[in-house]
This record gives sequence, structure tokens and C-alpha cells, in this order.
Amino acid sequence: MASLEVDLSGVEPGKTITVKWRGKPVFIRRRTEKDIEEANSVDISTLRDPQKDEERVKNPEWLVVVGVCTHLGCVPLPNAGDFGGWFCPCHGSHYDISGRIRKGPAPFNLEKRESRAYANGLRTVI
Ligand code: FES
Repeated sequence: MASLEVDLSGVEPGKTITVKWRGKPVFIRRRTEKDIEEANSVDISTLRDPQKDEERVKNPEWLVVVGVCTHLGCVPLPNAGDFGGWFCPCHGSHYDISGRIRKGPAPFNLEKRESRAYANGLRTVI
């Protein structure tokens, strides 16, 4: 199984970085307290692809998702869209701060990746 170790020491809260994993972009977002609160405040019965935030993250501070829109495969833009997460400019899908689809044609949430933060919180394996 392929894994990638990423140094997260330079990632400030509220920032998203993009790394390549198996030829695909992977978004790693260091979420703020506000991001985490917002992700948990959503009524999941209203979601197209219902998933609690806690099902999508191991450590709520770090969200790790494949950066490929589940509609037709474009790369969404971070910190954009109506829900503070990602916006796909190809056909207008909006994802929230948990990478869940909230508006637009995409059928599913951004695919989450398992990650493991090391004890010092500076690295992850995806
Ligand atoms: Fe993202 Fe169509 S590929 S909205």
C-alpha cells in the first residue's frame, strides 16, 4: 500500500496544502476551532451524502481528502464556495469544510484519506 509522509510543520491553522499521492492531488487542511464547530453543526439529514464530520477525520484539526471533484474529476479550489470549503469551477459544486458536497452536481463527498499524525503533530501518512 502506498503511503506518503508529509511535513505539516509549516501549515498554519486555516490553511490548505495540496500534495500529490498516487498521481492525484490530496488536500490537507489544518482546521481552526471555528472550522471544526461549523463542520459539526450541520444537520446531516440535510446532506446529499450524509456523513458526520467525525466519520471523516481522525484528528479534527486535520482534514485529508482526495482533491478530485466527484462529479467529473476536476480539481476544486480551496477556501472557496458558499460553504467555506472548496468550489469546483467546472460545473459549480460546493463542498464544505469537511469536504462534503453541499450544492451543485457532484454526487458524493470528497473522498477522505486515512491519515495518522505523529506524536509531535508535524507529519502525516496518507
Ligand atoms: Fe466538479 Fe463537474 S467536475 S462540478
